[in-house]
Amino acid sequence: ALVSMKEMLEKAKEGKYAVGQFNINNLEYVQAILQAAEEEKSPVILGVSEGAGKYMGGFISVVYMVKGLIESYKITVPVAIHLDHGSSFEKCKEAVDAGFTSVMIDASHHPFEENIEITSKVVEYAHAHGVSVEAELGTVGGDEDGVIGGIMYADPEECRKMVEATAIDCLAPALGSVHGPYHGEPNLGFKEMKEISELADLPLVLHGGSGIPLKDIQKAISLGTAKINVNTENQIAQTAAIREVLENDKKVYDPRKYMGPGREAIKATVIGKIRDFGSNQQA
Ligand code: G3H
Ligand code: ZN
Repeated sequence: ALVSMKEMLEKAKEGKYAVGQFNINNLEYVQAILQAAEEEKSPVILGVSEGAGKYMGGFISVVYMVKGLIESYKITVPVAIHLDHGSSFEKCKEAVDAGFTSVMIDASHHPFEENIEITSKVVEYAHAHGVSVEAELGTVGGDEDGVIGGIMYADPEECRKMVEATAIDCLAPALGSVHGPYHGEPNLGFKEMKEISELADLPLVLHGGSGIPLKDIQKAISLGTAKINVNTENQIAQTAAIREVLENDKKVYDPRKYMGPGREAIKATVIGKIRDFGSNQQA
């Protein structure tokens, strides 16, 4: 069933596990992720970046595709369609109007007061439509759809103020995580994560979930992280599977012959993450 993130994240925080946000890039991602979640009896969040939304034909096409597969596959676990790193109130509104059940407003590059102002406006509109809202403070490192940023840690005091001033449903404080592959071991700010968790009593979100070792995942969950975003690992697995088929069979031309194995690789990766995050058997 299509739902907002609110309830699934509150349950996750309470139950000390995290729900995975798996970004979708095309049909095969939606198929693989929905099947993985259903088999594992796990709630799941389908993340849609603005760029990927555009690639798939726009937010409306995304909603029809997801709803179609939920029906065809008879999916019973809770599923959220979530705008990932929404860049403005207008983009968030467009997603809500198209039928997304959750949005992230990423106004973290604006001055703090402006971030609060934009985030409040999104919350007002989204909540009126039963849609949940994620906000961000600080800067996630690496590359997200061409937006390249250096790492900047979220300020715990600002996190407290943000939660107090807005009615956001979850918060992504950037604490050293990176979009895309890590170069060396990730170095996450667990001290700050603990502090933020204590100051701001709501589910925390960890971006850049690809390549984070299991012990760090478990530590983040123990400190109040209830949502973990993964994109790159699925892309790497899918591409490796497709590359293998193409390299081994120079005559192949039916896209199903290589996109199919790519889809299976995404599914296997998602199942692994669901188990690491402990959200299996929770739906
Ligand atoms: O918002 C999306 C995520 O933070 C994905 O990060 O591609 O490093 O897994 P990742
Ligand atoms: Zn992210």
